[in-house]
Amino acid sequence: MIQLGVNIDHVATIRQARRTFEPDPVTAASLAVLGGADIITVHLREDRRHIQDRDVRLLRETIFTKLNLEMSTAPEIVDIAINTKPEQVTLVPEKRQEITTEGGLDVVFQKKTITDAIKKFKDAGILVSLFIDPEERQIAASKDAGAQYIELHTGNYANARDEAARNAVIEKLRAAVKAAQKSGLRVNAGHGLTYQNVGLLVESLDIEELHIGHSIVSRAVFVGIKQAVSEMKDLIFRHHIQKQQFRSIS
Ligand code: PXP
Repeated sequence: MIQLGVNIDHVATIRQARRTFEPDPVTAASLAVLGGADIITVHLREDRRHIQDRDVRLLRETIFTKLNLEMSTAPEIVDIAINTKPEQVTLVPEKRQEITTEGGLDVVFQKKTITDAIKKFKDAGILVSLFIDPEERQIAASKDAGAQYIELHTGNYANARDEAARNAVIEKLRAAVKAAQKSGLRVNAGHGLTYQNVGLLVESLDIEELHIGHSIVSRAVFVGIKQAVSEMKDLIFRHHIQKQQFRSIS
């Protein structure tokens, strides 16, 4: 079964709007786990716009599912990650002006920095995933750099405006999954996924983890985070079963 990673950054976004104590992302994480989250993800950004250092420390003490820390390769953040010891880090590109992570990492261009960071994480017993666009050269560079996982950027899938565009992106993602798995990489996916578009992706790709944030936190505003996570888990489960049934009869 595909594992669900719930990104709770935007609970902290609401808190930071007033620089107050609520809503607490640590409480959100516990409720997300009760709703069925397999992984809790937070992005400790260099500008600390949502998640704060204290949140990461408290999450490490209170979350016993996989904790996945999204981060850049900035030395200060790498040190925090190594001291906190999440089960996994996902390296992402980070720009000050962006609203959210925009593109995948350019592993080809930043190979040395990324390889050095991966070595430190491996020495500390932390798994490393690289958030990349579905391109063969980025996959090959990720493998060379020593990552265990890649997370394929699904932003173009989420933004596809019609069926033809969506199918073209799915084909690209499928080819990327195959190439990565052939090289020995484990494959995750995420970004821009919603209750409306997750089903087709689950049916189309053989991946291990899906990482979803904004859509789950948005629904949580109305139904609560435990229910929002549980509804997403159900959707993933149903589409996974549908895929298995389709395969067994074809
Ligand atoms: N995966 C990565 C690497 C991300 O940077 C993000 C956004 O923080 C997500 C997944 C989740 O994206 P979304 O909030 O659009 O679901």
